[in-house]
Amino acid sequence: MSEVDFVPLPLPRPGNGSGSGNGNGKAGARLRVNGGPVAAAVPMDELRERRDRLRREIVQGRAPAVERQHGQGKRTARERLDLLLDEGSFLELDLFRRHRAQGPKLDGVRPATDGVVTGSGTIDGRRVFVYAQDFTVFGGSLGEAHAAKIHKVMDLAVANGAPLIGLNDGGGARIQEGVMALDGYGGIFRRNVRASGVIPQISVVLGPCAGGAAYSPALTDATFMVRGTAQMYLTGPDVIEAVSGERVTHAELGGAHVHGGRTGVATFVHDDEESCLADVRYLVSLLPSNYLEAPPAGPPCGAEDDLRPALAELVPAEPNRPYDTRAVIAEIVDDGEFMEWHEDWARNVVCALARLDGHVVGVVANQPTVLAGVLDAAAAQKAARFVRFCDAFGIPLVTLVDVPGFLPGTEQEYAGVIRHGAKLLYAYCEATVPRVQVILRKAYGGAYIVMDSRSIGADVSLAWPTNEIAVMGAEAAVNVVYRRELAASDDPAPLREKYVADYRDRLMHPYYAAERGLVDDVIDPARTRAEVARALAMLRNKAVAPHPRKHGNTPL
Ligand code: HXC
Repeated sequence: MSEVDFVPLPLPRPGNGSGSGNGNGKAGARLRVNGGPVAAAVPMDELRERRDRLRREIVQGRAPAVERQHGQGKRTARERLDLLLDEGSFLELDLFRRHRAQGPKLDGVRPATDGVVTGSGTIDGRRVFVYAQDFTVFGGSLGEAHAAKIHKVMDLAVANGAPLIGLNDGGGARIQEGVMALDGYGGIFRRNVRASGVIPQISVVLGPCAGGAAYSPALTDATFMVRGTAQMYLTGPDVIEAVSGERVTHAELGGAHVHGGRTGVATFVHDDEESCLADVRYLVSLLPSNYLEAPPAGPPCGAEDDLRPALAELVPAEPNRPYDTRAVIAEIVDDGEFMEWHEDWARNVVCALARLDGHVVGVVANQPTVLAGVLDAAAAQKAARFVRFCDAFGIPLVTLVDVPGFLPGTEQEYAGVIRHGAKLLYAYCEATVPRVQVILRKAYGGAYIVMDSRSIGADVSLAWPTNEIAVMGAEAAVNVVYRRELAASDDPAPLREKYVADYRDRLMHPYYAAERGLVDDVIDPARTRAEVARALAMLRNKAVAPHPRKHGNTPL
């Protein structure tokens, strides 16, 4: 389908008397069927002629632009759809559509497809709806007809309860179409919002995604970008220079590394289009087609009895020694395989989709190798969005806790860590999917509450024997509680030691929380995979009645 997927039409066969011909070899003549009234023959010649013209226009007419596209290391819209969809599954819509706009460089220039290829196909046999912008036509810019084609597949995706995947490669609003282009974008955004939480929406940015185009990916569930060729920004380098004098390149302004590592706009970043589109297929394999379906499950793989002794060695008992939480996740989930979201942004928290005993789960885990695993404004935003996503699509949550608290300091307070932390709190409090919390080592203060504690609705809380749950660490606690005693003492060091030991013995062990029902069980670390799998099996039929209200008001 790398060119245009034309269904070959049968040639007229003289004397055949059926199908495309009429028995006299003259297309368009009148035909008598079974002695009935004379009927008009289907004008197959015209159809064939029109389709041939389309093919010539699309395949040959655009050859120089296609060459330019390839020269920039980019594939064409149809080549991308070939990589994305199951072979031979693409059904194209609106092939004949052209714009009817007037304006400079538009009058008399009405290219077929109007710069976007739309339709439906399958991924691993499951239905998806797609649009792929075609940079070879008006730079993939969006005018009225282009937008209407996208609106159509968006509406079909929702009506059929199937994921929507948009491949973006264009210059934004088509300048010559003025307000009609802006109206077209508005129609996309409105549909993005209405489809949010109904069907998975995936944006793939494979070239420029400028101006209005950038808002649609931001409204969808996940955004993929390719290093080197993809850029996203609201206003390009030329406008920035004209307005403020600041000079910046396209890549510096909105390249994949910027959005993957600094802004969080990109969820997944890839080196090339092949691996990017392969990963889009992988993501689809982990998601339900819509919010009413369960995510696709594989056969159970014995996780409920699977012991992992390596876990106790991976996590050092000393609360401040770092370890890579991704190694812990790999021990807990099936085949050590998970798909990490925002790998390069807010790395102090890890969010990943994986399977556990064949069922898809969302994992949220503090990462002690980055900022000692503290939560900060960016980590809270990242985790909050992921929790909401999982909840919207019925994906159970497994939260691995090892958190010293929220990052202190003016930078964080001025960055609004209060409202960003509140987003994570809000997301967990609202989530009705099965929720299992595992406290690996330490869980202090507000960060303990926020990381899916029982108090905000976790269904099951498990703790390792080494763990410390408290308002704060022992030294800090003693400094506050015994400040006066320590100040009055001639020899405060041994006194402090005694107070610290006492505080640890009385408060900082999981049995204190377990006696009070805040931890359901204290488990051998080696049994973590098994116990989480058992807890999720117990919760598989969890159902929570909707909370009647129009909608909540999420923190700013
Ligand atoms: C009309 C456009 C266009 C646009 C590109 N083209 N963008 N035509 N409207 N928005 C056309 C070019 O004129 C050119 O036509 C062809 O597409 C290829 O573009 P090039 O510039 O030759 O390609 P390249 O050098 O690769 O640069 C790509 C680009 C650049 C970075 C995207 O074209 C660019 O900066 N375009 C403008 C981007 C922009 O400012 N968009 C914002 C629009 S405002 P020919 O005939 O020469 O082949 C907007 C507001 C909406 O979107 C707000 C809603 C919230």
